[in-house]
Amino acid sequence: MTAEQTAPQSPQAAAGPEGYLYRDNAGLEADLARRTAATAADFVLPYLRPGMRLLDCGCGPGAITLDLAKRVAPGSVVGIDLRRT
Ligand SMILES: C[S@@+](CC[C@H](N)C(=O)[O-])C[C@H]1O[C@@H](n2cnc3c(N)ncnc32)[C@H](O)[C@@H]1O
Repeated sequence: MTAEQTAPQSPQAAAGPEGYLYRDNAGLEADLARRTAATAADFVLPYLRPGMRLLDCGCGPGAITLDLAKRVAPGSVVGIDLRRT
């Protein structure tokens, strides 16, 4: 193997210490930023009421998080994610 050739990363190495396989995927991040609660989280919408407080674990860029916040206003949504986006 030459200096230019590198062994392919194992899936475990590609996933990083958090074990998340889709990290560092700019195309996926762009798709996530365009999602809405209506198109990607419709299953939860019937349960939302004004004033609720939600926790969105793995919120990604937060597009759905912001949409959920509008639906529970004057409540609130906290979004957390492994990545700084
Ligand atoms: C497929 S994306 C979904 C993002 C968003 N919820 C959506 O539906 O558009 C999954 C997100 O979960 C995050 N994630 C994965 N494992 C996580 C963990 N253990 N703690 C926090 N966030 C995590 C990733 O960084 C990624 O942004």
